Order: sequence, then structure tokens, then C-alpha cells
Amino acid sequence: MNRILIQHAKGIVQHGRSHIVRGSEMKQLPVLENAWVLIEGDRIAETGSMDEPFHHPVTDVIDAEGKYVFPSWCDSHTHLVFAGSRESEFVDRIHGLTYEEIAKRGGGILNSALRLQDTDESALFDAALERLEEVKRSGTGAIEIKSGYGLSFDAELKMLRVIRRLKEQSELIIRATFLGAHALPIAYRENRSAYVDLLVNDLIPLIADQGLADFNDVFCDRGFFTVEETDRILEVGNRYGLRPKIHANELDFSGGIQVGVKHNALSVDHLECTGEAEIACLQSSETMPTLLPGTAFFLKLHYPPARKMIDAGLPVALASDYNPGSCPSGKMPFVLSLACLYMGMSPEEAINAATLNSAYAMGVLGEAGSIQTGKVANLFITKPMQSLAYMPYAFGSDLIETVILNGKRI
Ligand code: NIG
Ligand code: FE
Repeated sequence: MNRILIQHAKGIVQHGRSHIVRGSEMKQLPVLENAWVLIEGDRIAETGSMDEPFHHPVTDVIDAEGKYVFPSWCDSHTHLVFAGSRESEFVDRIHGLTYEEIAKRGGGILNSALRLQDTDESALFDAALERLEEVKRSGTGAIEIKSGYGLSFDAELKMLRVIRRLKEQSELIIRATFLGAHALPIAYRENRSAYVDLLVNDLIPLIADQGLADFNDVFCDRGFFTVEETDRILEVGNRYGLRPKIHANELDFSGGIQVGVKHNALSVDHLECTGEAEIACLQSSETMPTLLPGTAFFLKLHYPPARKMIDAGLPVALASDYNPGSCPSGKMPFVLSLACLYMGMSPEEAINAATLNSAYAMGVLGEAGSIQTGKVANLFITKPMQSLAYMPYAFGSDLIETVILNGKRI
């Protein structure tokens, strides 16, 4: 069996912790200094201090002098399966159009849906696999991927089959989310409820039956789906065992957070528009508020009030939202930099949010998110770094030297 020893590490980050972190605890990040990690097969077997070195036979030794060992990032919100980029809308926005104006003209998500409907499954798979390769190199080891660019019976199933193939063939831990309610297709503009009927009567039962998704999502926001429609879709999803993980309060105080919490959502995501009422609602829930600062950056929105949420005792997770319209990047280190700079999160808080808390937000806390005996050996070793704060500080630099997934060097 594969036995890899990483030794002389400057620090093992997120060492031994297995629960989510909230409020003031988010400032604390357990780091085992001057340490070693033993990997056996695809698992983390043991960790220890160099004061008591590991002396037994191994198949591979990695010297990590001056370097940190991190658990891989868990990117709990992406739309990584898509057909083609949308830089023409980026240019339209530079010239003054807003994201919502572009969407109203049939651009945005509907533009991606038209292209995806015309793209065959293997081309979608190849492009998505390439994107996974890219995010792997920036330290992502677990990723959630949504449908939602199909927006028809056949094309939504096509997307979910692509995600299933990615699950089978990629080294990353992958979770799939059904997002049929991403935007209303033009054909249903005069008959919204017929589209919701298609989702709840036809697609959700079939997807649950075929095991094609782990979670159920709705874009509950101004100009997209209403609270009433969301309520219906989440209720039916829950009945079929698909826990909600929804888009909420990106464009307005939409009521999305409240309806998500009502249906015991695993996470509610975006949250640019979050006030006292939304924070109070989250306080009495098991729902993870998940922030996507890459989207606020790219769409020039105001950032979610992370500081207020954490100071009110909430946990917060971070994810990329990788998609062709509102955040064409899956680079988690950049997400951390934005969280620190524009949401007032400390480097420790940002690292907690992108590891343990985001592992929870995609239902993989038992296997990912920390360096702990028994978890999957998905981790990375940095280049030599003076301190942990260097990671979000040196934005844009490639600070990751070695990636290990399932116990194998990539
Ligand atoms: O999470 N907000 C809704 N959906 C995506 C954007 C999708 C797109 O523009 O293609 C998001 O930002
Ligand atoms: Fe999204």
C-alpha cells in the first residue's frame, strides 16, 4: 500500500478539527507546528510533531521544510459544467449594462442554456474535466457542481449525467445539485407555473429515482423565482430526499434566506442583501450562510456583510460560484483574498470558511475539510511561506507546490 510521509512541515493547517466553526471561534485555526503527516492508501493515517519523528518504512517521503500542509479547499458552490464563455456580456457591462438588464434581454443564464442545449454530452464533459484540472492545481479537492444551464427536461438530465461522469472519473470529491429553477425559459414567460410543474412533477422525481443529484437549488431572487415558487420546489425536493442548497438574496432582500431556512437548507448562498432579520433567522438554523465574493467582485455588487454575520455568532462558508456569467474563475485562493480585503475576514476566518465550513455546506464534513486521521487524503503543500497570512496576501501568486488527492501526488 501507498505510504507517503510528509515531514518537517512548518505547520499542518486545520489540524484534527472535525466540526464547523462559528462566531468568534472562526478566528482560531488549529496549526500543528514542525510536524509530519502520514498518508496510507487514500486516507490520512496519522499526524505528529517532529519532536517525535515517524520512523517506520514508507513508499515516499516529501520534505516540507518551511512549507505548510493545508487540507484541500472545499468549493461548495459552482456551475462548472457549461458550454462556452460569455465575455461579450462582460464587455456590455463595461459599457454600462447591468447583469439584470442583460438577463432581461434573454442574455445571461438563458444565453448559456441555448448554447448548452446545442452541445453534446461528451464535449460538455471534456470542457468540464479541463476546468476541474485547473481548479485542482489551485488547491480544490472537493467541489459541488450544479445543473441549471439546461432549463429543459432533456438538457437538465444531460447536465446531471455529465456531473455523474465527472464524479466517476475525477479524483475530486464531487457533489451534484439540481438547479432546474435557475431562470425561467422564454417559452414559459406567459405560464410560469407550467415550468414549476415540470420541475416538481417530472424532473425531481426522476432525478431522485436515478440518484442524479444530491441537492436541490432554486435562484430565489428579484427577476428569477419567487418565494412561493421556491417554497413549492423545495418542499417537493425534500420529499424526494434532495436537501435544499439555494441561491438567495443576491440582487434583493428576496425572502430567499427565510424560505431556505424554513426548508432546512444545508446552505443559503450569495447573501449580498442580508440584514438583521435574515441574520436572526439564520441564528436558529442548521443552514450554512455561504458567501461568494468572486461574484460580488466580478459583477461589482456590494459584498455580503460577513463581519456582521460572524460577529452575530454565525458560521460562514466561502465558495467560488465558478460560472461563465457572474464569476468565470474557480480559484479559491483569490476568493480568500477578496474575503479578507472586502469582507473584513481575517486570514484564519477565511481559511476556516473555505475548508471545514464549506465541507459542511456540501455535505462532506466527514471526509474533507481538515487534516484529520481517517479523512480522505486530499491536501496540498505550499511553497515556502513566512506565515499563513501570506496565502491571501500574495493574491494571484501560485503558492501551491504539491497537490495530493486520494493519497496520490497529482
Ligand atoms: O450564482 N445567481 C445565479 N446564478 C449564477 C450566475 C449564472 C450565470 O450568470 O450564468 C450565480 O451567480
Ligand atoms: Fe451560483
